[in-house]
Amino acid sequence: MGSGARILVVFGTRPEAIKLFPLIHALEADPRFEVRVCVSAQHREMLDQVLGLAGIVPDHDLDLMREGQSLDDLTARALTGIGKVLDEECPDWVVVQGDTTTVMAAALAAHYRQIPVCHVEAGLRSGDLSQPWPEEANRRMVGAIASLHCAPTRTSAEALLRENIPSATIHVTGNTVIDALHWVSQRTDAEPSLVSGMTELEQRFAGKRIIGLTSHRRENLGQGMANIAKAVRHVASRDDAAVIFPMHRNPEVRAIMHEQLGGLDNVALIEPLDYLHFARLLSVCHIVLTDSGGVQEEAPALGKPVLVMRETTERPEGVTAGTARLVGTCPHRIVRETERLLDDPRAHAAMARAHNPYGDGKSAQRICELLAG
Ligand code: UD1
Ligand code: UDP
Repeated sequence: MGSGARILVVFGTRPEAIKLFPLIHALEADPRFEVRVCVSAQHREMLDQVLGLAGIVPDHDLDLMREGQSLDDLTARALTGIGKVLDEECPDWVVVQGDTTTVMAAALAAHYRQIPVCHVEAGLRSGDLSQPWPEEANRRMVGAIASLHCAPTRTSAEALLRENIPSATIHVTGNTVIDALHWVSQRTDAEPSLVSGMTELEQRFAGKRIIGLTSHRRENLGQGMANIAKAVRHVASRDDAAVIFPMHRNPEVRAIMHEQLGGLDNVALIEPLDYLHFARLLSVCHIVLTDSGGVQEEAPALGKPVLVMRETTERPEGVTAGTARLVGTCPHRIVRETERLLDDPRAHAAMARAHNPYGDGKSAQRICELLAG
């Protein structure tokens, strides 16, 4: 590394990559920093899709992903793998984002070497260790270790203060996912053909209201996902609605969804979309059904009603703003809430106001200033 502050950015999954690429771009453009990128590759194809789109070539790729990986095996391999990279790079800061196994392992490896950690998207708390699982615990562990906490909202900063984290280390920066969405709209406004991959599906479902669906949470594997599939089957039996579901690559998700939803006329089970195409899906759909974290932030920013198939959320801002609603995983409730939005235009309009509690698209720059000290 050269003469600027040496920053090692570590990540491993699709959502981390999406929320970190704007920061990596900003750090790389800033002469005050020497930037290195390490990917654990906790995800492989879904991570590579984002790296390719954002033009990021990692300096270190640990290639950790195994089919059906267990949490303890992944954690052990991430901790030792990232530790070796830290010994080689000796950075001034380790930057991590969010709540995955990679984030927790990278923070711990840095702590073992007394290297300061900057946590992007700090302070999200559901208050329930069982959901999101195991992410709520990961966030609390990283919160205990980090020396710089980039909280996306005032609510998340307040959660950190309640845990007695020194206020001087907590900064409200906004969420970098909004920076990522701005980047997407700049690219697709300039070159609409970049999202032409959605045209065929849009034509297939012309005249129907599109429901965008994502589901992958570990605590929903099994019964929760069977319930979600049952609800989707019911909604998709209507003539006026169609469901587009870019399926997570987790084989457990795919098995249950193929079994329950495969071959239905009004359901498209498709491969994970690249971020440009997923943003296009969000922009053309009428309703979003999800158990994902990031999608809960993107849908409100794009004015799309989002029904969150979870019992709690560490992202209450969308619910407070009225664009998100927690519906759990009971099939009857999912069907009732979805049909209410399909059948009652006023209920839909009340949730469909573009509202952006998560940021202004300048979060990456704010984090750069904090890292520059
Ligand atoms: C992980 C994160 C979760 C995050 C999610 C985003 C943990 C504990 N969980 O969950 O917080 O919300 O990523 O998607 O860190 N797979 C592939 N190719 C891929 C990605 C996954 O085949 O590109 C398959 C593999 O069989 C892998 C399995 O999916 O073993 C599960 O991946 P893993 O990262 O362990 O868990 P996720 O449920 O994806
Ligand atoms: N996403 C994507 N392609 C898809 C589905 C989702 O690019 O086919 C993006 C989505 O816009 C969001 C992120 O992936 O930014 C969410 O990732 P995921 O649901 O895997 O994880 P979570 O946010 O729940 O941690």
